Amino acid sequence: MQVKEQLLSLKPYQPGKPIEEVKKEFNLSKVVKLASNENPYGCSPKAKQAIVDELEQLAIYPDGYSAKLRTQVAEHVKVKEEEIIFGNGSDEVVQIICRALLNPQTNTVMATPTFPQYKHNAVIEGAEIREVSLVNGDHNLEEMLKQIDENTTVVWVCTPNNPTGTYVTRDALLNFLSQVPKHVLVVVDEAYYEYVLAEDYPQTVSLLNDYENLMILRTFSKAYGLASLRIGYGIANAELIRKIEPAREPFNTSRIAQVAAVAALDDPDFVEECRIKNKKGLQQFYQFCEELKLDYYPSEGNFILIDFNRDSDEVFQALLEKGYIVRSGNALGFPTHLRITVGTENQNNEIIEILKEFVK
Ligand SMILES: Cc1ncc(COP(=O)(O)O)c(C=O)c1O
Repeated sequence: MQVKEQLLSLKPYQPGKPIEEVKKEFNLSKVVKLASNENPYGCSPKAKQAIVDELEQLAIYPDGYSAKLRTQVAEHVKVKEEEIIFGNGSDEVVQIICRALLNPQTNTVMATPTFPQYKHNAVIEGAEIREVSLVNGDHNLEEMLKQIDENTTVVWVCTPNNPTGTYVTRDALLNFLSQVPKHVLVVVDEAYYEYVLAEDYPQTVSLLNDYENLMILRTFSKAYGLASLRIGYGIANAELIRKIEPAREPFNTSRIAQVAAVAALDDPDFVEECRIKNKKGLQQFYQFCEELKLDYYPSEGNFILIDFNRDSDEVFQALLEKGYIVRSGNALGFPTHLRITVGTENQNNEIIEILKEFVK
């Protein structure tokens, strides 16, 4: 059996250790996962109720057009319904973009380290990958511009960037967009949009009229707390959406995900509370880093990347044995850092205490 040659160079996604496995291995009654930037407060009760109400319909295929959710999202972000494409998580929108725009004759430009699925999917399509190193955790947009040529079809801008939590300012993004050739799609991945507090973070939706080559990605997995349901979306001009739609599976988002997302949008207070608690949680980590003189990247997301000045697997393992699963920087291109999802106040205090002991 001959699979595509480029698949041989890829590893399947390595998820963190499951909670149950860690409990068993270290004989722990409580294990906390702060590894995947999930919402420690769960999701809106309205979303849970909507799921229960939908259970009678499980035998029926979902609406492949996600009409109700489409109307709600269009209203929420203030775009036209035909300017949205839904995915089984924004992961799938990344995959659809790659299927639609990349092939072995094209190249794609992205930062490194950044969210790994851009590269993963681009490799599968056989495209050339052009990676530009972050500078102090930030996208080097000037260098990314230099990497663009007539064969470039997609450029990825992850803001806030996973795993650094840094963001691209409005001025920097506008300057970049004004120089990117029109044949290149600029994908601005805003998975952590709802957490951002920085005043000069761009409101990209308002740029869609000026830039037909702009696509914005958002998700219900983070601040809305619906990661397990797999639902996210892309926003771009209607013609582009129409062109890439055939690369989407017909029933790619489930009934449960659609109704939960509709209900989640109807509970803005839940997201607002999570945003405020996340900000306080970040402060707990900043204070810890400053006390112990550890370098970190100020984050606009719900996670923080901290430099422990030693092999990150060591710190990762020490936390694991105490029941805290985080993300070792080794797998993220930061071999002395840990990426820790901001948890509840108690979870943050507990993990900080363990880290203090360990660093001492
Ligand atoms: C930057 C970024 N984009 C996209 C995703 C994918 O999110 P989902 O597929 O759950 O919508 C993630 C998940 O961690 C992410 O960090």
